[in-house]
Amino acid sequence: MSHPLVIANWKMNLPSKGISEWVLNEMISSNEEKDFEEKTSFFKFMGVCPPISHLSELKTLMNFGHFGSQDISRFQDGAKTGDISADMIIDRGCTFSIIGHSERREFHNETNDVVSEKLKICLEKNILPVVCIGECLEDYNNGDTLDVLENQLKEIFSSIISENKLIVAYEPIWAIGSGKTPSAKEVNNIHQHIKDIVQSVANINDINIIYGGSVKRENAKTFFLEKNIDGALIGGASLNGREFLDIYNDFMETL
Ligand code: 13P
Repeated sequence: MSHPLVIANWKMNLPSKGISEWVLNEMISSNEEKDFEEKTSFFKFMGVCPPISHLSELKTLMNFGHFGSQDISRFQDGAKTGDISADMIIDRGCTFSIIGHSERREFHNETNDVVSEKLKICLEKNILPVVCIGECLEDYNNGDTLDVLENQLKEIFSSIISENKLIVAYEPIWAIGSGKTPSAKEVNNIHQHIKDIVQSVANINDINIIYGGSVKRENAKTFFLEKNIDGALIGGASLNGREFLDIYNDFMETL
């Protein structure tokens, strides 16, 4: 089964020209000639995480690719005002979920322990988890990136044993929305390190590592060309359907 590797994270935004323009004019128009089967096959590595409130609208327009949620509750059900459970997102047609995004950590005080609980729920419910980790600028400047990531991974994965597939998204906090990125070579080395740690801590072998943080049309391919960079998690640039599609095409060309 294919799974998303180039993922749009719209965050709490909608495309400026609206969802139908994003899908029909920016995304589909250049693929109009493809029939349903071709589209399904071509877009098998694309994932989109809109605000959950707009998922149905997006799904009625877009009958290809994978749909995910930007977060899930660490609880299964009950009196947890504002939360959306794993079962609820499955019911809406989501097959994967981002968890542990740095914005959840910053604005909702999510710790590695909370991320670990969410990871367990994803694995239990067969939702493909996209586990976000990343260092702040100070850590990066001090050369502490690998130590920080190792610590995050150990806390998140230490009690996990699973045969399920999973994705780790390496998102340096200082690269998100800043226009700055580490070099593709640096990211490639860091991804190797991440893979080694997850395999040693959690005994999980079926893992992809994707990169997020100021991925744009201009730089996407340099990342995709690296051996250990399996895809991208894209914020700002994904709000423009044309740019997101261009990035996706670049990804497909490097396969
Ligand atoms: P930008 O692509 O806007 O830097 O956001 C990255 C991100 O946080 C995706 O989850």
